[in-house]
Parts: sequence; structure tokens; C-alpha cells
Amino acid sequence: MAESFVLNTGARIPSVGLGVWQIKPEAVSDVIYAAVKVFPDCPHALLAGYRHIDCAAAYSNEKEVGLALKKLFEDGVVKREDMFITSKLWAANHAPEDVLEGIDNSLKDLQLDFLDLYLIHGPIRIKKGTTMSPENLIRTDIPATWGAMEKLYDSGKARAIGVSNFTCNKLEDLFAVARVPPAVNQVECHPVWQQDKLRKLCQLKGVHLSAFSPLGSPGSPGLNGPSVLSNPVIVSVAEKLQKTPAQVRLPRAEVAVHPNSGYNTLEDLWDGEI
Ligand SMILES: NC(=O)c1ccc[n+]([C@@H]2O[C@H](COP(=O)([O-])OP(=O)(O)OC[C@H]3O[C@@H](n4cnc5c(N)ncnc54)[C@H](OP(=O)(O)O)[C@@H]3O)[C@@H](O)[C@H]2O)c1
Repeated sequence: MAESFVLNTGARIPSVGLGVWQIKPEAVSDVIYAAVKVFPDCPHALLAGYRHIDCAAAYSNEKEVGLALKKLFEDGVVKREDMFITSKLWAANHAPEDVLEGIDNSLKDLQLDFLDLYLIHGPIRIKKGTTMSPENLIRTDIPATWGAMEKLYDSGKARAIGVSNFTCNKLEDLFAVARVPPAVNQVECHPVWQQDKLRKLCQLKGVHLSAFSPLGSPGSPGLNGPSVLSNPVIVSVAEKLQKTPAQVRLPRAEVAVHPNSGYNTLEDLWDGEI
């Protein structure tokens, strides 16, 4: 598997990222530190840790992610330029005048001067200051929101801009008005939902399709779709290779095992043969 992909900005995005959705604020700093740092005394540590962290204002843990990043930089574990940090504009900040506030809050919490990638979290908008529920939904104005995203790109606060959860139609609509084309569309994509049509469109338009929920997000509340881990093809490949379905499915990441992770060795987590 490629280590990175080239975006339409010319920048490289590491092919494997660590998403921090649903990681509790009190745990996320340790998770990030352990995922990025290579512990030299760990016999299973490989040469590189994660370099790509996928955050969002909506995950309510950016302050704690920021603390981990600051410590990693201060400890000399990695340099800012070696990390690829993504965040996302939440649905309550779609008004053009609120987009700058959205990125500024994320930058402040993450303790960064710029993001490598800033995404519109989804083509859905709620009234400012409200929570996600049907009565708070208001009509989106993606051209206006995108115009404000383009200003962030121009200013350098976001080195690439993109979208998330955009269908083919939404992406086509965006292309019709965009001065700066989206660099990324981050969508759910795995063997049970392969996004063939969207992938072809993204390829055609030079948009990097970034796949989230590689395991189909088992256990997430409200998600009752077909399970990746019990998919017959995945199960039969796993049986053939004598692996678990998750081992078959996940891309191979270069990781070290943190002593508090619940895994005793890297082999417990990943045997590295697939
Ligand atoms: N842009 C968006 O709208 C959006 C939406 C969703 C996700 N994302 C991004 O994608 C990232 C990953 O999403 P996700 O959490 O849905 O990913 P996922 O990997 O599909 O699902 C994670 C779930 O898989 C379980 N799991 C992990 N390893 C397993 C194994 N070996 N066997 C069985 N189950 C296993 C985890 O359980 P435990 O917790 O018990 O380990 C957790 O419940 C997020 O953090 C976020 O950055 C973006």
C-alpha cells in the first residue's frame, strides 16, 4: 500500500490516519502520543508511528489532541511539518461569517498555526449554537460556505480544503461553483459500502477519496447497517488466512504497542503478515 497520496494541492496526505472520534477527552492525549511516538525499548516498535490525525470540532476532544501534539513537538518526537492534521467545520458554523471562527477555534484548541486539511463535515447545517436534531436543521448554502473555505485556503490557515459525506450530486454542485476545487471528500467506504460511483467521480475530478470507518463502525449507536466484520467474503478470507476479520480488513499501519493499550504485544494487535 502507498505510504501517501498526492492531493490536488501538491501536498502529500499519509495513507493511514488515526481518527479520534469517540475517544474520550481524558484518554485522547495518551492515545495520540502513543500512536505517534516510537518507543525504542519496545521490541515491536517499527520505524514510524502515525503521522496523520483526523480530528473535528464535533469530536469535542481537540483541546486534548492539542496537548498531545504540543508535547510531541516539545519532546522532539516529531516536527510539525512531519504531521498531517485534519479538522472539520461543524454544521453550526456554515454561515460564511462563522467559518473563520470555526477554524480559529480548532487551531486554538489544537495549538496549531495551520491545518493540513480542513473539511466541511457534511452537507448538513443547523442553527448556530444549537445541537443536531431535526428542529434545528436549516437549509445549506454550500456555495457561500465554500467561498469562506476558499478564503481560509488563500490565507494559509488551511493548506488544503475539502468536504466530507458529499454524494456525487453534492460534489458536482460544488464543482460548478468552486474557484478552489476540493482536495478531499472523506466518506464512509469499506468492502460493504464501496462507493464505486463516487470513487470514479473523485478520480475523474482529481479529488482524493478518503475512507472512514474501515470496519463499518461496529458498536456505534444508531448504525445498524450490514457488518463489515461478519461479511461472508471477509470472514472466508480471514478463515483461509487464519486471521481475524479485522486483521484482514484494516490497512497495515506502522504502530508501536503502548503499555496501557490492553494489547500485550504488537502480534496481539496485528501480526503484520497480511
Ligand atoms: N467525516 C465523518 O463524518 C466521519 C464519520 C465517522 C468516522 N470518521 C473518521 O473515521 C475514524 C474511524 O471511524 P470509526 O470509529 O467509525 O472506525 P471503525 O474502525 O470502522 O470502527 C471503530 C469500531 O471498531 C471497533 N474495533 C476496532 N478494532 C476492532 C477489532 N480488531 N475487532 C472488532 N472490532 C474492532 C472499535 O471497538 P472499540 O472501541 O471497542 O475498540 C470501534 O467500536 C473516526 O475516528 C473519524 O476520524 C469520520
